[in-house]
Amino acid sequence: MSHPKTLLIKNIRILYGIDHRPYPFKRGKAMSFLDHIQNAFLFVDNGTIVDFGPQDSCSYETADQVIDATGKFVLPSWVDSHTHIVFAKSREGEFVDRIKGRSYEEIAASGGGILNSAKKLQETSFEELYRDAEKRLKEVISFGTGAIEIKSGYGLSFDAEIKMLEVIKTLKNKHPEIPIKSTFLGAHAIPSIYKNNRKAYIDIILNEMLPYVAEHQLAEYCDVFCDKGFYTVEETDLILKKAATYGLKAKIHANELAISGGVQVGIANNAISVDHLEETSQVEIDALKNSSTIPTLLPGTSFFLNIPFAPARKMIDDGLGVCLATDYNPGSTPSGNMPFLLSLACIKMKLLPEEAINAVTINAAHALELADLYGSIDIGKKAQLLITKPMESLAYIPYAYGSDLIDTVILDGKIQS
Ligand code: NIG
Ligand code: FE
Repeated sequence: MSHPKTLLIKNIRILYGIDHRPYPFKRGKAMSFLDHIQNAFLFVDNGTIVDFGPQDSCSYETADQVIDATGKFVLPSWVDSHTHIVFAKSREGEFVDRIKGRSYEEIAASGGGILNSAKKLQETSFEELYRDAEKRLKEVISFGTGAIEIKSGYGLSFDAEIKMLEVIKTLKNKHPEIPIKSTFLGAHAIPSIYKNNRKAYIDIILNEMLPYVAEHQLAEYCDVFCDKGFYTVEETDLILKKAATYGLKAKIHANELAISGGVQVGIANNAISVDHLEETSQVEIDALKNSSTIPTLLPGTSFFLNIPFAPARKMIDDGLGVCLATDYNPGSTPSGNMPFLLSLACIKMKLLPEEAINAVTINAAHALELADLYGSIDIGKKAQLLITKPMESLAYIPYAYGSDLIDTVILDGKIQS
């Protein structure tokens, strides 16, 4: 049987997320607009959107595959621009410890947290890591995610960091239907054995890990956890500057636990995005306004760790554009469920449904430098789409939290089973 090449989606109740070149990053008020067509069709050829419009103007009678989307909405797939889905074991023991009153920082300082994950990852084979990461990748695809970033950072030794990045590379090779961006996060924590000699570990990052990662093209980005108890602003600056000499662009974990200076050092290093920002003041908001660095907010982390939510409403009202991502990882956010993230953004951050959806589609595509082909609907863009179950309005997606509202996922023009 020949491979289906064309796909017609007809009778779409509303086609959302229509966009026009050059697909600008949406800021401020623009975040509440999500262009749409009621009663629409969309036609795909060989993985690319080649036509769409009102159903009554549809000239296609058939295709290799036809979907009747009566009552349903079609949107661009979600883009998850910040995850750590390669990890060895879950950490529900720490979850119970926190219920009993220990803080995330206390657990980390006593060898739990990231160090706990690093120990387990070092003991886990490439094959097992790959198998579990692939399961998580398939899981998030079923939630509607159609592009993703994955970080290293649970290795914390040369061998284990490279093992993680090789797992990500293998995911990329075996799953061409979903774009995957890889981020080197060797500076996620200081390994226990370097506790009293941080410089020695940082030297390994600078002089051994980064050159190898660059030479073997194992990552597009370099990230640092610049926060209280983790990496200082000076250490972060050193690592990001060295990474830049290898062509690795900066991303950053900042201001999760305290106002760390991470936002400013990210901006100074032309970071594509600064992520977390639960602890953010007007100073950081103003600094972001004068930069092209994207604030990426992770409401799942605030929910799970019971810490403040980043001031997304204030940022948008001040004219900033924001991106949202899951941060799927075993410690602070053990979920890659994008529809639930939309609910959190609306309920806890007071984003409108349209703002939340822009934050996980076109704006998130910008945070991964994928906006030319992903994150919105236009002729020439990739057919990376989701079809919802029948519903009355877009707000039903974040409103009906916890319900499975994704009916069909289409990646590279192909219906996923
Ligand atoms: O993005 N904050 C730093 N790193 C991860 C979580 C690390 C962990 O607890 O395993 C995050 O939240
Ligand atoms: Fe993270």
